[in-house]
Amino acid sequence: MAKTVNHNTNTEPNSAIFIIFGGTGDLSRRKIFPALYNLFLENRLPEKLAIVGSGRSKLTDAKYRATLLDSVNEFSRRGKAKKEDWTTFASKITYQAANIKDVGEYKAFETRIKEYQDEWKEKPAIIYYCAVSPEFFCTIAENISSAKLENNEETTRIVIEKPFGSDLKSAQDLNHKLLTIFSEKQIYRIDHYLGKEVVQNIMAFRFANAIMEPLWNRNHIEHVQISVTEQIGVGSRGDYFEHAGILRDMIQNHLLQLLCIIAMEPPISFDADVVRDRKVEVLKAMRKILPGKIDAISARGQYGPGWVEGKKVPGYREEADVDPESNTETYAALKFYVDNWRWQGVPFYLRTGKRLFKTASLITIRFKEVPHNMFHSENENVPKQNRLVISIQPDMGILLQLESKIPGLEMRLNTVDMVFDYSGKTRSDAPEAYETLLLDIISGDQTLFMRADQVEAAWELIMPVLNSWENNKVRNFPNYPANSWGPENAEALIAQDGFHWFNLPENIKKE
Ligand code: BG6
Repeated sequence: MAKTVNHNTNTEPNSAIFIIFGGTGDLSRRKIFPALYNLFLENRLPEKLAIVGSGRSKLTDAKYRATLLDSVNEFSRRGKAKKEDWTTFASKITYQAANIKDVGEYKAFETRIKEYQDEWKEKPAIIYYCAVSPEFFCTIAENISSAKLENNEETTRIVIEKPFGSDLKSAQDLNHKLLTIFSEKQIYRIDHYLGKEVVQNIMAFRFANAIMEPLWNRNHIEHVQISVTEQIGVGSRGDYFEHAGILRDMIQNHLLQLLCIIAMEPPISFDADVVRDRKVEVLKAMRKILPGKIDAISARGQYGPGWVEGKKVPGYREEADVDPESNTETYAALKFYVDNWRWQGVPFYLRTGKRLFKTASLITIRFKEVPHNMFHSENENVPKQNRLVISIQPDMGILLQLESKIPGLEMRLNTVDMVFDYSGKTRSDAPEAYETLLLDIISGDQTLFMRADQVEAAWELIMPVLNSWENNKVRNFPNYPANSWGPENAEALIAQDGFHWFNLPENIKKE
């Protein structure tokens, strides 16, 4: 999190060693290494730095670095790396082939750590990064412990990617296991949405503007929509997705975290635990979903084939590694309530899906109607309800829709937009979520990471829906074509309350 506002006691270490399990995997190539490289370019990494990538294949350091250079060139927001920058950065990277299941092979990491410690003559931050499939999280933690690798409460960290568990019980078990080996302050559970630039700005927007807080409650807000729509399908992730479904993949983590940031009470400081306490309170205040009420508050969908930008795309059931009769949902919409003084009676609608018409992550807050309309209504002069739109991606911006008089001799109203569009900055100017998160891991700031109770509370909330959806097969899947806005029952879900789903307003700057 931005260091200027963070007054945690964390200190930026002079030296750090990253051991990246899954160092040849997709996440390392697409996200972790491009992010580390960008941090390096901005001079944000410790002076003494060693990055040890590990995977099963036997690779020389030179070959490993060459594949990483290709990845950086392809995925970095800054485009291709300059030769001299890359050479300096790459000199910090080495490769260690290892079978993560074999404790005997962890000796090699111990040797590396020792070598760097001896060379630097200090205690570096040691970061074990589990960029691997979730079934290996426990194995890695146990092997770190059995092999007696460095595990100092102050300087050693373990990073766990999502998904964190596949239901409440498995998340509890994983927490339990990790907490027998590491303390909570050593565990960094990633939800990359929390690292996104605009998501962090919600905190500034809410808590650095005195005019927001008086409006931010049931007296003025009519309803909230959180919408993360994606144009892509599941692609090569069919096997993962079959076991996950969109409820686990997106709602349990990203969308509920966005809801927490919108609904949380003002924290008294940026202290990691204070902020996370406020978020957990939201999850605990959310109305329990009763098994008999699931259809009334949710809608699920699965995409069929269709056309996207002139190309025919397969339906979910035709994707690789997907059961041709799959019951897995690729779209979900849910309605929640937060039962506390601030939010009583305000519905929060969440929707997310694959193969939808547009990729956009948006939060829309619609305010109540004016209490009395003094404008003539015969010429449709009815003031529209104000809306605050927070656009997270791909277009970044915050927009407030207000009513205003159309210049002229008559009193006629028009909706105008006050737009904060990041002053012409595009996504490639803003740090990627992983840059923010990696920097926080190095400096020991857990504000943007999920705490054990946070993850469990989110699972607990959605378990009734998860169980019901798993046990009740849908007869009309697929129920929305690719390149549409999703299934009809999701429209009905929100329409029954007299609302409709909002999309990106025109005035948010397009890249
Ligand atoms: C991941 C999900 O956590 O988030 C993916 O597993 C999803 O299915 C992705 O596509 C979306 O992230 P972003 O940053 O592209 O919005």
